[in-house]
Amino acid sequence: MRNANNTSLVCISLGLLFLMLFNLTNAENWEQPRRNDNLSPFGGWRSAYFCLMNQSNACNHKSNYIITLNGTLNVQDSEINEFCTGGCYDHTLLIFKCIQDVKRDFYFATKAPYAFVKNATMNACNELKGFDTSKYKDPNSATSLYGRMYMPLISTLMTMALIATFGV
Ligand SMILES: *[C@@H]1O[C@H](CO)[C@@H](O)[C@H](O)[C@H]1NC(C)=O
Ligand SMILES: *[C@@H]1O[C@H](CO)[C@@H](O)[C@H](O)[C@H]1NC(C)=O
Ligand SMILES: *[C@@H]1O[C@H](CO)[C@@H](O)[C@H](O)[C@H]1NC(C)=O
Repeated sequence: MRNANNTSLVCISLGLLFLMLFNLTNAENWEQPRRNDNLSPFGGWRSAYFCLMNQSNACNHKSNYIITLNGTLNVQDSEINEFCTGGCYDHTLLIFKCIQDVKRDFYFATKAPYAFVKNATMNACNELKGFDTSKYKDPNSATSLYGRMYMPLISTLMTMALIATFGV
């Protein structure tokens, strides 16, 4: 009986240790547990997805008015008046607000941050000019997040190797 208890105690301690190790990278979890759901990487993405699921009749009659996960809004000059003043713009702004609240660093399938699409939409309605957010150019397209941290390390090592080899 006593042994069994000790074993489970060890298991629990090991489990806690692992939990703590994995959570060290995510210190907010400890400081703001009430916001855990959206601070956990997956929770935020899921919530942002739900924001995008919010549909409105003001947009639904034209598929190019509907913001989806692919982040493409493509509104022609001839449509911009209807888009901006027919209620779809207001609805779209509410979706951006919702995303902003649950996942500030959200980006779409085109890699465009939500702020880019929001900005383009607001500019378009300020000027009443057609716009197309599908042409987003990802400034980091050649390097993933992994690449961004990994490549500087590699180039530092390469430089050191060059210096060591050629004495430059
Ligand atoms: C984006 O998604 C919408 C809805 O799913 C679709 O109608 C549209 O063609 C897509 N655009 C691109 C560029 O994939
Ligand atoms: C969905 O959109 C409507 C208006 O278009 C808004 O009133 C409502 O708050 C939105 N819901 C969520 C969960 O953002
Ligand atoms: C938003 O759009 C304006 C006008 O085009 C531009 O000057 C500004 O840099 C944009 N901001 C962001 C965050 O994209």
